[in-house]
Amino acid sequence: MHTEILKPCKATYDKCAKLIKEGFAVAFPTETVYGLGANALSDESVKRIFEAKNRPCDNPLTVHLADKKDIELVASVLPAAKKLIDSFMPGPLTVILKKRKRICASATAGLDTVGVRIPSNIIARDFIKACGLPIVAPSANLSSRPSPTTAMHVYEDLKGKIPAIIDGGSCELGIESTIIDASSGYLKLLRSGGISEKQIINVCGDIFLEKAAVKSDKYRHYEPKCPCILLNSNDGEYIKSEYIKYISQGKKVALLCYDDNAKALSGLNIINLGKDNISAAAMLFNALRQAESTADIILIEKPKEDDLENVLLDRISKACGS
Ligand code: TXA
Ligand code: MG
Repeated sequence: MHTEILKPCKATYDKCAKLIKEGFAVAFPTETVYGLGANALSDESVKRIFEAKNRPCDNPLTVHLADKKDIELVASVLPAAKKLIDSFMPGPLTVILKKRKRICASATAGLDTVGVRIPSNIIARDFIKACGLPIVAPSANLSSRPSPTTAMHVYEDLKGKIPAIIDGGSCELGIESTIIDASSGYLKLLRSGGISEKQIINVCGDIFLEKAAVKSDKYRHYEPKCPCILLNSNDGEYIKSEYIKYISQGKKVALLCYDDNAKALSGLNIINLGKDNISAAAMLFNALRQAESTADIILIEKPKEDDLENVLLDRISKACGS
């Protein structure tokens, strides 16, 4: 199958909506990462996503909508979820709710719950609106690979497997949405992401927020093609000594580090993550894909301490296979 990369415009949305209605999967940009969309009401269409990504079929997909008023068409909303929806949608949040029967069983791997997300990215919403359907969309990477933050990343992974990619440039946040399970009377944080825990507690402080067990994820995620090691320090001297250690073992090393160390350590094979965690989050998946093409081991500087620290640590430790 030929994979077209299309500029975002009305003609593209109409063309892609037609492909979705015919049962194909189409990739589109969101503010977090690129998604691979298909018709959430059709088992046949949803099957195309699992096949293209090589995703285990017991790993559920989330539904993407253009508008809050459509949520009740796909799920039922308890009061605990209402505050979250009112405060953070559209935006980088996925809320797990009790599913309505319309959403096909294979979309949610047979679960009676469904994740719902309304992207703030206007290209995503215009595309979904043109489809006039709820759109299931996992990240548009091959299963276990770093999530895609550009149309080129999607193309690398899914070329020949899907008919179209809507090119919306680089994703603004570069890490996935926060996932909160609000399908019962209390809230459970399943994945840290674009909305911080602090923001959620500020809005839903009166509701118990439980954190899912850290080791609960049985799937592999974000893994580059070569080994990846998290350096437990921001100290330039230490980072340099680790780099030299691997070089002297005859390895080709790529170092992902923040701007200050990138400047201090110039001359090494460095991919600069920028000055802070916001830029590091936006760069991380791109940097992993870039690094794997030039190195056989990737070293990553420890995330800086702030609200995004745990989000980055989660992604990096999974990239490192732990
Ligand atoms: O930012 C995002 O959320 C991106 C963009 C494309 O919207 N999507 C994304 O989807 O990251 P995906 O499929 O790569 O990750 C969704 C996660 C998976 O780990 C899945 O297991 C979990 O959400 N999930 C989906 N439905 C669930 C459910 N009903 N209960 C518990 N976990 C669920
Ligand atoms: Mg994913």
